Amino acid sequence: MAGKLMHAVQYDSYGGGAAGLKHVEVPVPTPEKDEVLLKLEATTLNPIDWKIQEGVLRPLLPPKFPHIPCTDVAGEVVEVGSGVKNFRTGDKVVSFLRHSTGGGLAEFAVAKESLTVARPSEVSAAEAAGLLVAGLTAHQALTQSAGIKLDRSGEQANVLITAASGGVGHYAVQLAKLGNTHVTATCGARNMEFVKSLGADEVLDYKTPEGTALKSPSGRKYDAVIHCAAAVPWSTFEPNLSEKGKVIDITPGVNAMMTSALKKLTFSKKQLVPLLMIPEAENLDYLVKQVKEGKLKTVIDSKHPLSEAECAWAKSIGGHATGKVIVEP
Ligand SMILES: NC(=O)c1ccc[n+]([C@@H]2O[C@H](COP(=O)([O-])OP(=O)(O)OC[C@H]3O[C@@H](n4cnc5c(N)ncnc54)[C@H](OP(=O)(O)O)[C@@H]3O)[C@@H](O)[C@H]2O)c1
Repeated sequence: MAGKLMHAVQYDSYGGGAAGLKHVEVPVPTPEKDEVLLKLEATTLNPIDWKIQEGVLRPLLPPKFPHIPCTDVAGEVVEVGSGVKNFRTGDKVVSFLRHSTGGGLAEFAVAKESLTVARPSEVSAAEAAGLLVAGLTAHQALTQSAGIKLDRSGEQANVLITAASGGVGHYAVQLAKLGNTHVTATCGARNMEFVKSLGADEVLDYKTPEGTALKSPSGRKYDAVIHCAAAVPWSTFEPNLSEKGKVIDITPGVNAMMTSALKKLTFSKKQLVPLLMIPEAENLDYLVKQVKEGKLKTVIDSKHPLSEAECAWAKSIGGHATGKVIVEP
């Protein structure tokens, strides 16, 4: 592929939102020893992609401009690096590209073999790509942080999932119900039936007083909260938690970090745990298998061609996606 050009979408400074994206022709990247080159079939967007463009992680991310954003991709292997052992040309895969490199809004991308997993024919490229940041975050929050066993071998736990209609939340509801859980979920009024259909036992409209207070309609106290919505004060969580209840906060701000430190220092039984997703191929493989077996689904909010990537970008920035926003080259 050396010397061949591809269509890509990039930005060359912080800010600008969807209008800051530019369509360009750039060389197809060459895989390093431990990388595969993919012809992309689907890329999904996550809020972190446009937050990096906004500059929330400056000066670390992006490491340089111009930057081709997005990390969650599925496609076909078209070239392999000399050290790649597990993949061959023609394999269908799903890969995480890392935020420092990005590269997902393009026709081709290089991915580390270590963060690449085979995609069976039963799982579409869009369904697989959705599982990366959003699915892995839901999985990590439930299993590692909240200690929920997804094979139902654990004790019964009451779990609250906020923003259950979003990318992370819709996977979290479904995964939580693979375990021995009672799930309360919050979402907007328009999505209450949808979130129930994912398996939630009770659903709260976040715009009502009960929803704002996060009160379980059945009076349950939560053993774990998977918090995917914007910041909520500890004083709102606290009365709703069981004796050793934990809030797993995937959107921690300064106040949440301070609360977390304070709860640790005071040996509080109720804890606030900030979460940063660490991608693991083994967990991705588990999620792909759940989709293959029909135990987990990727709900698609909308699909956009790469030529209209700014529509997808604006949709994600709007904050009202139901499930995942997909871009297809
Ligand atoms: N820490 C990490 O490693 C990590 C990983 C992944 C994501 N995140 C963060 O987690 C957050 C969620 O990500 P996402 O991909 O799930 O976002 P998303 O897909 O954009 O979430 C949109 C959904 O959230 C719902 N929503 C918004 N505010 C709500 C509220 N107060 N209560 C209930 N529902 C609400 C919206 O419903 P309506 O349309 O009805 O308003 C919409 O369906 C983002 O801030 C993201 O950056 C962090």
